[in-house]
Amino acid sequence: MKILLAFFLLHLTRGNLGQSANMQPNYVLIMADDLGIGDLGCYGNTTLRTPHIDSLAKDGVTLTQHIAAAALCTPSRAAVLTGRYPIRSGMTSFRRIGVYIFAAGSGGLPTNETTFVKLLKEQGYSTGLIGKWHLGLNCESSEDHCHHPLWHGFDYFYGLPLTNLRNCKPNGGNIIIVGARSTVRTAVQVVIVALITLLLLCLLGLVTMPWKALGFLFLAVVLLLAALLLFFSQFRNLNCILMRNRRIIQQPFTCENLTQRMTSEATSFIGRNSDRPFLLFMSFIPVHTALYASPEFLGKSRHGLYGDSVEEMDWSVGQILASLEMLNLSSRTLVYFTSDQGAHIEEISESGEVHGGWNGIYKGGKSTNWEGGIRVPGLLRWSGVLTAGRSIDEPTSNMDIFPTIVKLSKAAMPSDRIIDGRDLMPLLLGDVQHSEHEFLFHYCNSYLSAVRWHPRHSSSVWKAHLFTPNFNPEGTQGCFDTHVCLCYGDYVSRHDPPLLYDLSCDPTESSPVTPASEPQYHQILDVMREAVERHRGTLTPVPDQLTLNNIIWKPWLQPCCSTVWEHCHCDNDTNSNTALNGTTD
Ligand SMILES: *[C@@H]1O[C@H](CO)[C@@H](O)[C@H](O)[C@H]1NC(C)=O
Ligand SMILES: *[C@@H]1O[C@H](CO)[C@@H](O)[C@H](O)[C@H]1NC(C)=O
Repeated sequence: MKILLAFFLLHLTRGNLGQSANMQPNYVLIMADDLGIGDLGCYGNTTLRTPHIDSLAKDGVTLTQHIAAAALCTPSRAAVLTGRYPIRSGMTSFRRIGVYIFAAGSGGLPTNETTFVKLLKEQGYSTGLIGKWHLGLNCESSEDHCHHPLWHGFDYFYGLPLTNLRNCKPNGGNIIIVGARSTVRTAVQVVIVALITLLLLCLLGLVTMPWKALGFLFLAVVLLLAALLLFFSQFRNLNCILMRNRRIIQQPFTCENLTQRMTSEATSFIGRNSDRPFLLFMSFIPVHTALYASPEFLGKSRHGLYGDSVEEMDWSVGQILASLEMLNLSSRTLVYFTSDQGAHIEEISESGEVHGGWNGIYKGGKSTNWEGGIRVPGLLRWSGVLTAGRSIDEPTSNMDIFPTIVKLSKAAMPSDRIIDGRDLMPLLLGDVQHSEHEFLFHYCNSYLSAVRWHPRHSSSVWKAHLFTPNFNPEGTQGCFDTHVCLCYGDYVSRHDPPLLYDLSCDPTESSPVTPASEPQYHQILDVMREAVERHRGTLTPVPDQLTLNNIIWKPWLQPCCSTVWEHCHCDNDTNSNTALNGTTD
């Protein structure tokens, strides 16, 4: 009966409004992790095989200047979901670490942020998240789930509350040690030198210290090291968690067939929602390290495990598109494909294999605001509505998904807060030729590091860098000593006046504009400076979700599916349709 009524209403609105662009479409939003723009065939790669993702370009619109609001997972994903610069929600860090690394941290996407998912749910959409979340989990207890996807508008979740990390794969390596290599090395050296010096001084009689006290000191250091070792040995169990809705179903998750399991979750979700409007957010675990691929894809690409992983993800996209086709939903579904940021150049495995992607002609990568860090794939397909095979070179942002989808779904835009994204439809439909984003602000964690200006009546795209990362070793395009580039202090070079490029003729950011080469040089910088002032005036201080206190491991927030003595271990991922039946209707 309900279905009949819905069907009737659907036809009524269809009859009234006449075209599919005027009815509530479905959405399949696909986000890869750390995929470079140069990894895809449709963006020029000739050796990695991505035919299904490429088909989105062939049958839809390709954005060639699609810009991530941040070059790191947590802030970039917060921006997509809220349509706002992540600094507005406190999802940017003032410290070294810009993302969550423990499942038992207390920070996360604040409950008073409005995601487009929440708005769509209110419009009657069925909303599912499959894959990575990385926007926090708990606030005060291990099961309050205050930052959980189900709090933010999703009514189905199958995936990782945190993220995939090297440590999540047995023998995959240790990200904490890799990331903090220099700090760990210095700390260990300092402790050893201090202890030896103290010992020598005591032996020489220059310092008198009771042997007992000295013994205690040694014991304390040994115990501390042992505790740290114990913690890191349990890192995988504690942080690599797979959940279905609020329940932990695999701890630690296994990489085996994870992409296949996610794919079958995605197609089941589409299948059981085919008769009502739905939003599927397919947030891929690949191609973040630890890399993995199913046996069918292992060793099959020309780019090692990284390529295998990309090609399996492409297969998965193909399965999702096929299920839309089979259910006759292609002309009623807007499909979007992107990556949360550029490829992670510093990802070299312990055996020396390249585990990061390719950013094509663009400089730098993940965690930098060079184009390689923020210019990501942007593909949109809506059969029968968007002209197939079009390419748009105007600046667009991953924050644009928010207003685009909210408007298409006939939900009201929030009026109590600033939304930085812009409706993409006029550009996509060809109604306008010029992006509404006159300015875009590129943040490195909480620090504004570059500004982009696309003047209203010009094809130029000016980009001014206030600071740039110091690549290490020099001459490379990455920060190999810290594993990601950092945003402050000696890790960056400040530019005053800013380093200015015109991306419309210098997309590789290789020759800065000078007063001699550009007569308008000073005026251009003045306009950008004023835009920064105006932008800063719109920021209000909010609680910082990435303070040290919000990132660190808090034992009382630790999600654990068994007793501690069983090492938080369980495996109940009965991934079959029988398991899903329980959640249908
Ligand atoms: C294609 O992608 C691979 C893997 O990231 C990369 O090594 C290769 O250079 C890319 N090829 C081209 C032609 O861009
Ligand atoms: C959310 O709450 C915080 C803390 O009370 C506040 O600073 C912030 O402005 C609120 N955000 C919104 C969008 O209302």
